[in-house]
Amino acid sequence: MGWLTWQRFRCITDCKKYPNECISEALITRTADIMVKEGYLQAGYNYVGIDDCWLERERDEHGLLVPNKERFPNGMKAIADYLHNKGMKFALYEDYGNLTCAGYPGVLGHEEVDVETFANWDVDYVKLDGCYVETEKMDTSYPQFGKLMNKTGRPIVYSCSWPAYQKKPDYASIAKHCNLWRNYDDIQDSWGSLTNIMNWFGDNQADFAHYAGPGRWNDPDMLIIGNFGLSLDQARVQMAIWSILAAPLLVSVDLATIRPEFKEILLNKEIIAIDQDVMGKQGLRVWREKNIEIWTRELFDGSYAIAFVNQRDDGAPHSVSVTFNDMKIEKQGYKVHDLYKEEENRYIGPKEKFETRINPSGVKFYKFTPNRLRAVEIV
Ligand code: GLA
Repeated sequence: MGWLTWQRFRCITDCKKYPNECISEALITRTADIMVKEGYLQAGYNYVGIDDCWLERERDEHGLLVPNKERFPNGMKAIADYLHNKGMKFALYEDYGNLTCAGYPGVLGHEEVDVETFANWDVDYVKLDGCYVETEKMDTSYPQFGKLMNKTGRPIVYSCSWPAYQKKPDYASIAKHCNLWRNYDDIQDSWGSLTNIMNWFGDNQADFAHYAGPGRWNDPDMLIIGNFGLSLDQARVQMAIWSILAAPLLVSVDLATIRPEFKEILLNKEIIAIDQDVMGKQGLRVWREKNIEIWTRELFDGSYAIAFVNQRDDGAPHSVSVTFNDMKIEKQGYKVHDLYKEEENRYIGPKEKFETRINPSGVKFYKFTPNRLRAVEIV
């Protein structure tokens, strides 16, 4: 969990025109301060990451990477120290090609020295992108880069963009060599982009969902909650589905200006707990009819997180009445708790159907706890 620059701040490098938005030391320290002060760190968001556009256009005379001198006047080790002093971790972007996607120097031909540089800067997380890389070579080169990072002796989270660039990714190998991996296209700031990613994850889940587990995660890309493109209902959909998918929760938003109702979604403790469930089993889209979907995730204690998503746009909220089989959960009695707290808790017997009503482009998100577990809770 953490925060990343890209989706909201892209490649803004003009600090004169956009002093609060340019990719810079000031943006990182300001964000880290807010994360500590306003409860994001406490909620679990502990990585702070700089995506593309942090570099000078050229390496130095020794072939080393150089952070942009104006925007990162104290270098990257200073950023790492700042974050570590606050109990946070430092994530940094690079690319396996000769250039990054935005055209800055990539690691190709300099892998060893760059990995050493990252370790010297006390980087905790590397996102390695795949622009300008021969896709056939990725199956060998991504594992090699991971081995180089291991050799430094510094634990570094390895985020691979490897499968996002391939047609038939070797997920067994990816899950063995990476901690998280981008499966698919970049998220953009819109409901269309969000549903496109959700639909793709639902349609292709059989290929990769079972590779997720502690230390290895499918990454549907950043949370866009709190930016310009999503309504409140749509933002709730993203938080619900990302937690069903056991997705890394990497927020990309201006935390200085985010509206409180969006912040509340990002800080929803019960939903974060579902995302972070210790069993680490990724949930699935289990039912779909007339653009209403059910997504179900099994949790470590035998309870379930179940999201009902309405991808319709035809006005009034839509009611559904579904069976245990539709929801793909065991037929038994449950306590049903609304994770967005609009409804009171309710109880459903083993012979009943479950009814709910979902806003257009919205979600109802519940935790279903079996009665037998509640008995244990009470004891
Ligand atoms: C690619 C990645 C994005 C971002 C940009 C940066 O498009 O998928 O997440 O890192 O590059 O240029």
